Amino acid sequence: MKNKKVYIETYGCQMNLADSEVVSSLLHDDGYEFTRSLRDADVALVNTCSIRDHAEQRVISRLGEFKRYKSNNPEMVIGVLGCMAERLRSKLLDQLRLVDIVVGPDEYRKLPGLLGAAFDGEKGIAVKLSKVENYDDIIPLRTDGVSAWVSVMRGCDKFCTFCVVPYTRGRERSRTLHSVVREIEQLFDRGFREVTLLGQNVNSYRDGEHDFSDLLMSVAHIDPKLRVRFTTSHPQDMSDKLIRAIADYDNICSYVHLPVQSGSDYILELMNRTYTIDHYMKLVGKITSTIPGVALSTDIIAGFPTETEEDHQATLEIIKEVRFDGAFMFKYSPRENTKAWNMGDDVPDEVKTRRLNEIINLQRSISLEINKQTIGKSFEVLVERTSKKSDSYFMGRTDTNKTVIFPEGDYNVGDYLNVKIYDANSATLFGHVVTRQGWVDVRIAVEA
Ligand code: 5AD
Ligand code: SF4
Repeated sequence: MKNKKVYIETYGCQMNLADSEVVSSLLHDDGYEFTRSLRDADVALVNTCSIRDHAEQRVISRLGEFKRYKSNNPEMVIGVLGCMAERLRSKLLDQLRLVDIVVGPDEYRKLPGLLGAAFDGEKGIAVKLSKVENYDDIIPLRTDGVSAWVSVMRGCDKFCTFCVVPYTRGRERSRTLHSVVREIEQLFDRGFREVTLLGQNVNSYRDGEHDFSDLLMSVAHIDPKLRVRFTTSHPQDMSDKLIRAIADYDNICSYVHLPVQSGSDYILELMNRTYTIDHYMKLVGKITSTIPGVALSTDIIAGFPTETEEDHQATLEIIKEVRFDGAFMFKYSPRENTKAWNMGDDVPDEVKTRRLNEIINLQRSISLEINKQTIGKSFEVLVERTSKKSDSYFMGRTDTNKTVIFPEGDYNVGDYLNVKIYDANSATLFGHVVTRQGWVDVRIAVEA
């Protein structure tokens, strides 16, 4: 569509960010241009998340704000993409009259057609899920940078009882290893120095010939200066081969995100997580003993149906036992049509809030202790951007995914530096640049 400008806003997980880049690519090929300002937009798209009610409410209120722009520009086409489109379908068109098109995660190829019709005043909806669509042939449209999210599989077959993802994103399917590797080779040539391979459960990656560790190793082989990360691993099927690969390759980052969700076997069973705490702890033991210095993070849900005080204490216990570097912590949010929906929502909100706060406070104190231990040590840091708080500082990350802030200097985004840490809080390390990597190695050796 010539001369039409698209504005895209993305909510939710990194998979949605990656999907927005696929959508951008499809629209770019159809002649659309892009704008960062809603005021200039002919098309306004929101890529949405359904994981918790709160995420949906944010989008609904944002769509309310879109009304103002539409009243100034009645020709503007408004579209809802992603998980909310899949979950709420035509309800979105009926309830929010300003929405013109609703497109689920497996139907993005139809967007150009639906938008064309919408300009002629036709409302449109496409929400079929597919067993095969993986957009393998589409090169996502990315702005240049250092770090890229690369979706390697879609969907989820795990059916954790609290989770809406298997319903909004459908069945698991993987891209081919060759296409993922080709895409990342091109990213490296464009200056990207870090990729995160994405899937709801990457351990189930399979392209017919290769499993996830094969993929990870092939990506790591592209160049030693390319950092490789991945998320998310499910504790049930994280293989020894995968753990070995992380340990053996310097440029596969020593960081594993391993959602535990709860410390109680009873709750884990109700969640259909298919592992016990004993299994989880053995896996953590294997990871920490095989990968020296590995950092671990997790996801935790407070207040799942029937969760007792004892179950909650068990969650606090597992946090203390593992000593995660970081965690994403949530109050349970009932999602319609999931199995847990039928279990009720019997933990009162104030109890959920109190438990969540206890979890957050405990985790924060552990993160702080772990981060304080880095003071005086030097780390290889990949420079990502100037600091959000001050132009005279840069931000980068360690191999273990810790954010480091250090003064600006004669180096560029994309460089690897050795940074010595002088202070830390629970979220951030603060350091001085010791040397550009490979310069005065002797000095680092003496300081270390
Ligand atoms: N309520 C609260 N948290 C949830 N998550 C997924 N579904 C829900 C829900 N209904 C959390 C899980 C998951 C993370 C991505 O979001 O912890 O690992
Ligand atoms: Fe949801 Fe469980 Fe699949 Fe993660 S593994 S996306 S929590 S169903």
